[in-house]
Amino acid sequence: MGGSEVVEVRVADNCGFCFGVRRAIDLAESTLRSGAKVYCLGPLIHNPQVIERLIERGFHVVEGPEDLPAGATVVIRSHGVAPEVFAKLREREVRVVDATCPLVKRAQDRARELARQGYRVVIVGERDHPEVDAIVGIVGHEAVVADCELPAEALSAPKVGVIAQTTQDSATLRQVVHQLVDTLTDELRVFNTICNATLERQAAAVKLAGEVEVMFVLGGRNSANTARLAEICAATGVKTFQMETADEIDTEVLTGAHTAGVTAGASTPGWIIEEFVRKLEDIPG
Ligand code: F3S
Repeated sequence: MGGSEVVEVRVADNCGFCFGVRRAIDLAESTLRSGAKVYCLGPLIHNPQVIERLIERGFHVVEGPEDLPAGATVVIRSHGVAPEVFAKLREREVRVVDATCPLVKRAQDRARELARQGYRVVIVGERDHPEVDAIVGIVGHEAVVADCELPAEALSAPKVGVIAQTTQDSATLRQVVHQLVDTLTDELRVFNTICNATLERQAAAVKLAGEVEVMFVLGGRNSANTARLAEICAATGVKTFQMETADEIDTEVLTGAHTAGVTAGASTPGWIIEEFVRKLEDIPG
């Protein structure tokens, strides 16, 4: 393609901040404005650029409750934390502002109820993701975490209850449930706890991926839902790039393209998307 043609850039109908992330940031910002010393256990959201801006305004990110000084205010991030973390925070007598997303809380409640009723709880999600860690903490050590292949202990349980990490994709949930349907002898209960914001972003990304020649997925490299968006875009066969900011655009990737699509994970702010689109629009195809 000649260097004078401009690439048409389209942005997914649904992308960027979800309401749970927006709420967590609003709570962190209003707590900062109150003059409190505000802390978070791990990054508040999985977007390094947003965290950097919060840190410039006095926000602190620490590893665990033991790192909190006396008199601190701690914001619980949208992924939630395990009951034992809440217990440690009470022991340290710090003030807690709970920004756990209500939809994450709903998944936690489902898991708690399943465990109480004697189901072996299978969490379809990523090991070591904070949301999954919190749910494992709620259910206890009987919980089974599966991404797509089920471990044997889930297949041998007589009663299995399934929930999904809120940012899981439906195909993986379906795959795990299929395995259980094929092997389970007694009882299976499934709660689809994937949140609407995730489903809407995934559907919009797949639709756009089918209409353009190259897709860009924006979000923190540590963001699970961004990685899933990139996976499902790539699975449609379109050339897909995952990036954090416009600085990473390599103009070569647009060579020969007439159309480019942009989507973004649930923790990617509007200003990153806008900057990215502006830069793409300035690049000749
Ligand atoms: Fe909540 Fe869904 Fe966002 S669970 S934090 S609305 S991705």
